[in-house]
Amino acid sequence: MFFERHGGGERAILVHLEGQDPEAREDPQEFQELAKSAGAETVAFFNVPRHRPSAKYLIGTGKVEELRDLVKAEKVDIVIFNHVLTPSQERNLERVFECRVLDRTGLILDIFAQRARTHEGKLQVELAQLDHMSTRLVRGWTHLERQGGGIGSRGPGETQLETDRRLLRVRMSQIKARLKKVRSQREQSRRGRQRADIPTVSLVGYTNAGKSTLFNAVTGSDVFAADQLFATLDPTLRRLDLGDLGPIVLADTVGFIRHLPHKLVEAFRSTLEESSNSDLLLHVIDSHEPERMQQIEQVMVVLGEIGAQDLPILEVYNKIDLLEAVEPQIQRDANGKPQRVWLSARDGSGLELLEQAIAELLGNDLFVGTLRLEQRFSRLRAQFFELGVVQKEAHDDEGASLLDVRLPRAELNRLVSREGMQPLEFIEEHTLQYKPDKAAVPL
Ligand code: GTP
Repeated sequence: MFFERHGGGERAILVHLEGQDPEAREDPQEFQELAKSAGAETVAFFNVPRHRPSAKYLIGTGKVEELRDLVKAEKVDIVIFNHVLTPSQERNLERVFECRVLDRTGLILDIFAQRARTHEGKLQVELAQLDHMSTRLVRGWTHLERQGGGIGSRGPGETQLETDRRLLRVRMSQIKARLKKVRSQREQSRRGRQRADIPTVSLVGYTNAGKSTLFNAVTGSDVFAADQLFATLDPTLRRLDLGDLGPIVLADTVGFIRHLPHKLVEAFRSTLEESSNSDLLLHVIDSHEPERMQQIEQVMVVLGEIGAQDLPILEVYNKIDLLEAVEPQIQRDANGKPQRVWLSARDGSGLELLEQAIAELLGNDLFVGTLRLEQRFSRLRAQFFELGVVQKEAHDDEGASLLDVRLPRAELNRLVSREGMQPLEFIEEHTLQYKPDKAAVPL
């Protein structure tokens, strides 16, 4: 246990159970950062051994008494647990402490509530909060004095909740209906992008890895990036131009975290879906973080949950400015494919390598070259124009059209085979001549 004093925020005691089970283990350091992110001023941190847990309080009664005395002496506003509490444990603890008690889910929900930026994000958080509260409504709030605002009570107000459970249900179904609408709009815009063949690249990564900072650095935009966890709640989309590759859409997504409460994974499914529909994931990793291997693993677990584990991934080792003697670089696999980029989003070193690696990975399936089409293929020629993939047209002495095109190779194969022609490889030998020029093939 330690005592700490610094200004601002609600006075909080943090309770962390030392677990034997490494699977269920929470990180005390991360817990403190989460609490700080929520605006808590940590008065004391309790490391409680797990060996005598009680069903009534989660922790042993001796510890409960010790905590109660400290709450009183230190005028503590809130006691936060780094674990999930049942509604009755929460109620029992509040009765003894005579202050608010928040569990890990409530804490994370609160941080999400503060950080939601888009309409959709706000709705999602509110729904998750209402859902979380609905299981706790039975307790009534009489054992606590009414307290305005504060950690764990941002978002939907308590007054509304205690007044009428029915209102809660009505509100939840209203939100669901609105979310449905917002999601269908999002889906439409995604389909639009797919039709236009604009690849989507999503930033994923453990919370605080530096996704927003990288997003800002790359797009020159002004996304909120701060030294707080979950600075990013909603995917933010930006269109980027990657030279020869053309436009891509870059999506910033919510930060992943170990033991993300399952309800939250559900609530944020659509946010995360942006990643599962991507052409490439940029997995941003804090190269300076000692626990980075565990964090990488956790991110992979969440990606598995949203069905995105098999997408192409480029690892971005960020924050190399904090490392000694690490130069910006691209690491490649045995086939020469970019696998990892080392950079610093903060000072911008290595950003051009990132763009290069993205272009290489996405450009693999792109056909950039000149096609020679005899006049009898005028219909095919028209289709290329309709698709807007022709960059230049010239004619040779025999009146055949020479088209400079840039389009996905699969699309090219589909078009030529629809014309009853052979796949590209054969056509080259016969009627179509393909000469890879511009040194851009493959990118
Ligand atoms: P969540 O929104 O919680 O998922 O975080 P995030 O991954 O978007 O992280 P964010 O960009 O908010 O950065 C987290 C912290 O790391 C901030 O304090 C950044 O200033 C810092 N940071 C990001 N990139 C770098 C970097 O290249 N070098 C250093 N030294 N710090 C960085």
